[in-house]
Amino acid sequence: MPVWNDNKFMARRAIALERIRENLGLGETAEERKGWFEGVYDLADGDPAGVPWSDTEPRAPLVRWLAEQSEDHLRGHALDVACGLGDNAEALSAAGFETTAFDFSKKAVVWAKKRFPDSRVKYEVADLLDPPRDWLSAFNLVHETYTVQALQGDMRRKAIASIARMVAPRGRLLVITRARDEGEEADGPPWPLDRDELAAFEKYDLDLVRLDDFAEQRDRPIRHFLAEFRRP
Ligand SMILES: C[S@@+](CC[C@H](N)C(=O)[O-])C[C@H]1O[C@@H](n2cnc3c(N)ncnc32)[C@H](O)[C@@H]1O
Repeated sequence: MPVWNDNKFMARRAIALERIRENLGLGETAEERKGWFEGVYDLADGDPAGVPWSDTEPRAPLVRWLAEQSEDHLRGHALDVACGLGDNAEALSAAGFETTAFDFSKKAVVWAKKRFPDSRVKYEVADLLDPPRDWLSAFNLVHETYTVQALQGDMRRKAIASIARMVAPRGRLLVITRARDEGEEADGPPWPLDRDELAAFEKYDLDLVRLDDFAEQRDRPIRHFLAEFRRP
């Protein structure tokens, strides 16, 4: 059952959202924003309902995309960007990728490892805005869901550049994000991406090869982009 159909889970989530609003400032600098994420994981105290982005299962658009790929495309090394509680990383690993996943929240990484004790995923603590040097151009697939939309301004631009730079030659980048029209007001978090912002990935030697613009059914239909890029 999706979490949004689980009344008890959603009641706990509503309380958690209120607690987050009351206790945590969104933060303008990278350091303050990190504090906000750490604060969310702290306040959740082991309950995924307290982590507003946790569905306790992999994202449905990622699962559908993986199911569409041929076996040849499910080999190699995948990177799950800002993995949170690990569900997407586990889906990438189960599909066939040797998978590395990272988050800058140590609490999230420890929690993900605890949820998946037999995992083959390599979970790491790392900062997307300052990733390990040996991750540059290193991954056959880089997967990003919902991180860029959680950042604004300079952090958002830096995150896009950093994600793009980790794709290997002839590798692919999959971006799944909430979507908005250009000029449409974004009252975040999250702050959905428009097409211009998606196009920014192409500045880093990536070609957009697929763009789905669709309404994902959650507790209500929510507009999303699924964008696939390839490095020539
Ligand atoms: C909205 S959640 C999305 C999590 C996951 N990708 C998903 O689909 O559920 C954003 C995650 O990004 C992490 N994060 C934000 N900024 C980061 C950064 N600069 N480096 C690493 N992780 C970051 C947060 O700790 C949080 O787990």
